[in-house]
Amino acid sequence: MNREKFLNQLQKTENFCSLGDIAARCGIQLPEVAEQIRSLKREGYEFELQNGTKIRLKRGYLSRSEIADFLKSNRQIFVVPSVDSTNIWAAENSGKAEHGSVFLAEYQTSGRGRRGKSWESSFGTGLFFSVLEYPKLPPWKIPQLTLCAAMAVCFGIYDVTGMLPQIKWPNDIVMEGRKLCGILAELKAVSEHVEHLVIGIGLNVNQDEFSEEISHVATSLKQLTGKEWNRNHLVASICNRMETYESNLLKNCFPMETYRKLCVTLGKKVTVITAEQEFVAEAVTVTEEGGLTVRFPDGSEKTVTSGEVSVRGMLGYV
Ligand code: BTN
Repeated sequence: MNREKFLNQLQKTENFCSLGDIAARCGIQLPEVAEQIRSLKREGYEFELQNGTKIRLKRGYLSRSEIADFLKSNRQIFVVPSVDSTNIWAAENSGKAEHGSVFLAEYQTSGRGRRGKSWESSFGTGLFFSVLEYPKLPPWKIPQLTLCAAMAVCFGIYDVTGMLPQIKWPNDIVMEGRKLCGILAELKAVSEHVEHLVIGIGLNVNQDEFSEEISHVATSLKQLTGKEWNRNHLVASICNRMETYESNLLKNCFPMETYRKLCVTLGKKVTVITAEQEFVAEAVTVTEEGGLTVRFPDGSEKTVTSGEVSVRGMLGYV
């Protein structure tokens, strides 16, 4: 029996079972059950024991079939225990995997963040996934697609938890002044032709803690609510919301007002950080192209793009 089928069988089995029961359910011999379990443990999966004789896979791991059940339309879904970065993996599949394919990993060895940073990716707690798209849109509209991804994350979280987070321009998802989710969109375009877009989403779901480096700015849904959340449901809800935004975008309909309402940066005094300098200004609006317009004390205005600057609130991260 291959690893995926075995894992799938364990995920479907709610009750504690003896190894013999598992062997019978899977139609394999005991030594193979023992070897498959050892191999899953090496990958990072954890098991729960009952009376030292019965076993079951810890609940809540990523499951293709559970994600598919929550999706409103079909998509290719790929799940692995570990990968360097789901963004790299998705881009490698450009031209092979279908539009809208979702690539998920329980763990990333080199999760990538914006502006050359890394993304903390501990096994089985966060949600690390990338959506591969072949957008039928001109390159100048791609930033709108990334803003849509940010809104899809907010409303996808809302659909599952009832909490509506906000957006720190351009596409950090924040709650109670801390970062809950980051989005790294990577585009491959040849002159005016968009070859593919990879939208990488790192959502902090069931983490109890973060490294010292980011613990003062990061938060997770579990830290916010004291509860664990179903990552399969969350990823599907985000993809469902994304689908609606994308089909509207193809009809030239971009919900700028919704984005502006969710954007916690607007109306705030922010520090804009470029490669060469830092300046303080008030964030006034987000343009149709996704740029942030800021106003200086003398009344003059400037629009900056997410590629060239990063923005910090004056009192902490947001
Ligand atoms: C940010 O810096 O705010 C963006 C973080 C994006 C992280 C996600 S995790 C899944 C996908 N794969 C990566 O390597 N990065 C993105």
